[in-house]
Amino acid sequence: MKRLCSLVFGGLVLALAMPALAQQPIVIKFSHVVAVDTPKGKAADRFKQLAEERTKGRVKVEVYPNSSLFKDGEEMEALQLGSVQMLAPSVAKFGPLGVREFEVFDLPYIFDSFDELHKVTNGPVGKLLFQKLESKGITGLAFWDNGFKDMSANKPIKLPADYKGLKMRIQSSKVLGDQMKALGAIPQVMAFSEVYQALQTGVVDGTENPPSNFYTQKMHEVQKYLAMTDHGVIEYAVIVNKKFWDGLPADIRTTLEGCMKDATNYANEIAKKENDDALEAVKKSGKTQILIPTADEKNQMKKALLVVHKENEGRIGKDIIQQVYQATGFKP
Ligand code: LMR
Repeated sequence: MKRLCSLVFGGLVLALAMPALAQQPIVIKFSHVVAVDTPKGKAADRFKQLAEERTKGRVKVEVYPNSSLFKDGEEMEALQLGSVQMLAPSVAKFGPLGVREFEVFDLPYIFDSFDELHKVTNGPVGKLLFQKLESKGITGLAFWDNGFKDMSANKPIKLPADYKGLKMRIQSSKVLGDQMKALGAIPQVMAFSEVYQALQTGVVDGTENPPSNFYTQKMHEVQKYLAMTDHGVIEYAVIVNKKFWDGLPADIRTTLEGCMKDATNYANEIAKKENDDALEAVKKSGKTQILIPTADEKNQMKKALLVVHKENEGRIGKDIIQQVYQATGFKP
């Protein structure tokens, strides 16, 4: 009798708890390393808003900006382990994962415009790069723009010789290391979250960023010069843990794919303006002098940096580089 009562009671508790258990939202932890008021910060929040609205609360997106959950060097492993479900790292951070082909994006001056960039991100090369992630337990969903990178330092940097001996912070990309070495500078790989302090204390002398990252990380407070070199891009790959994504209920995954598409359009719509506004804010601060390269200075920089393309054919793959040249019309 007593056993029957506890069975009935247990069943009752379960029956009462079931709806609540069933209603637990699917949680997507989305970690990134930049500030909220940046192209990526705003696009991540937009994805959150759309996903929670369109799934009527069946999905909850927790966005962790500014390396508040995982920083560079930790993010990818956390994603592979499933400690986080979504990331949007710069394409310059896939080399350590063993997918060196992504470093094609880092080749100096390979892109002259967002249009050229989109021919690659929305084309066969973009698809190919995402396919290479599958064997790492990662699925690529989209590419988000940020902007063109500019060099900064505490001395006027106009010509290749001006970079000689400077310690320059870079992302974890061999191509970017070669880029700095080609200028006679000393590359230092460092997590994004550590750059401000390293500039402030002189651990590094300079770095490269689009204005949105330069301004929102307050680098204008510790860098006297920003040279508008536009020598490379910061582009993001939005990625998810493959097991998590494949395990989603089909209707939810379809809805989230739609949300990602709209968040991607939003990210790429706002990217240029976010950077233009950030550059204006840097100018307004009066703390950093903006250097506009002359045509001759730009040519000398290009000439000094084109060697990096040849040097990395073996690493990236000559075929992939050729495909990007074709898509962008780049003439080495
Ligand atoms: C950097 O490390 O400089 C950038 O990749 C940071 C970012 O995500 O924009």
